[in-house]
Amino acid sequence: MSYDFSTSAPREDTNAEKYMLREELFGTNDVLPVWVADMDINTPDFVLNAVKKRLEHPVFGYEEVPKSAFEAQMAWMKKEHSVEFALEDMLYSHSVVASMNVAIEAFSSVGDKVIVQTPVYPPFFHSVMEHERELLKNPLKLKDDGTYTFDIEDLKSKIDEKTKLLLLCSPHNPVGRVWRREELEQILELCLEHNIVVFSDEIHSDLVYAPNVHIPFASLSQEARDITVTAIGGAKTFNMAGFAISSVAIPNKTLRERFLKIYKRIHFANGSTLSHVAFETAYREGKIWLEELKVHLLKNYCMLKELSEKFPHLIKLTPIEGTYLAWFDCRGLGLRDKELREFFVHKAGLGLSPGISFGREGSRYMRLNFAVSSAKMLQVIEKLQKALQEHRN
Ligand SMILES: Cc1ncc(COP(=O)(O)O)c(C=O)c1O
Repeated sequence: MSYDFSTSAPREDTNAEKYMLREELFGTNDVLPVWVADMDINTPDFVLNAVKKRLEHPVFGYEEVPKSAFEAQMAWMKKEHSVEFALEDMLYSHSVVASMNVAIEAFSSVGDKVIVQTPVYPPFFHSVMEHERELLKNPLKLKDDGTYTFDIEDLKSKIDEKTKLLLLCSPHNPVGRVWRREELEQILELCLEHNIVVFSDEIHSDLVYAPNVHIPFASLSQEARDITVTAIGGAKTFNMAGFAISSVAIPNKTLRERFLKIYKRIHFANGSTLSHVAFETAYREGKIWLEELKVHLLKNYCMLKELSEKFPHLIKLTPIEGTYLAWFDCRGLGLRDKELREFFVHKAGLGLSPGISFGREGSRYMRLNFAVSSAKMLQVIEKLQKALQEHRN
């Protein structure tokens, strides 16, 4: 391995959300935070070096997103995910969640229904409700082996003429699924039949573990491409959420114009000079770093798996296909949601995301972000092991 993930820079004295909000969320600063989906792993040095180089130029006036930045991302998507977009399809966005909110405004009206597949990253359902759209909840189906799939029958029974948009999380946060072609095609068929636009949040698409393969929704067919708004970015892949840059790909001109109408109204601007540099460099130079990162992440996941297998009656780790988010079924602990959260804070000294925050279906689950250095991972394992042992005794 040419990159070293054994340690990472301390973040306590930066403005890292994961650390700053500990007191507010967990009632104490004395927790190792493994909640927010960014990594306690240094942003790659080639990204930082490119940013430092740009800082040598003394002017930071208004800037366009350079075409070369989008081209770098488009080339990455073609090579890594076999999906091709044209330059004219691409729009800058500072945030995938912001893009999702624009899509809700653009493709539905007050009172329309928007499909969300719970348990899911909370802004999916918050965004729908904040826009006064009706939440059409199509919970994922939990299978006997602890993995999830779409509940197509449930979806079929709920769609009606007011259903305008589906918010797809692909790969899925928090359940770690990388959707198979056959699964996505079932969703596509229904959306085509009912004229439903798909907002496909593919922010986790690079963090997929072999043999699983990410299939961009827009790559399913020309018809799929025509109804899809794809949101992508390097925030998760290269740990650069702080640069606040992502993109939206909308090949269908009519959909793009509808999206742009809202986008322009709220003045999305063009991002920051340094973010353009970071974004382009990451996509041009990031392949080897990412491959090595995934080996490291999988090692961390295996440590969690080994640990959970020592306590099979207490916790079960959901098999993972993508993302760096471990989804623990904690029902065996016999604790209610509030108690569960307190157990992790006070008995383990760990700040996790409560499963219930991802929707009712996440009740008595917890999400643990294992994208940390090897040194930190040892601490996580030690803390978790101690708490589980004490609980068992
Ligand atoms: C599925 C998903 N979408 C979007 C985001 C956030 O993206 P952004 O910071 O670009 O809004 C996250 C972050 O955890 C996520 O997991």
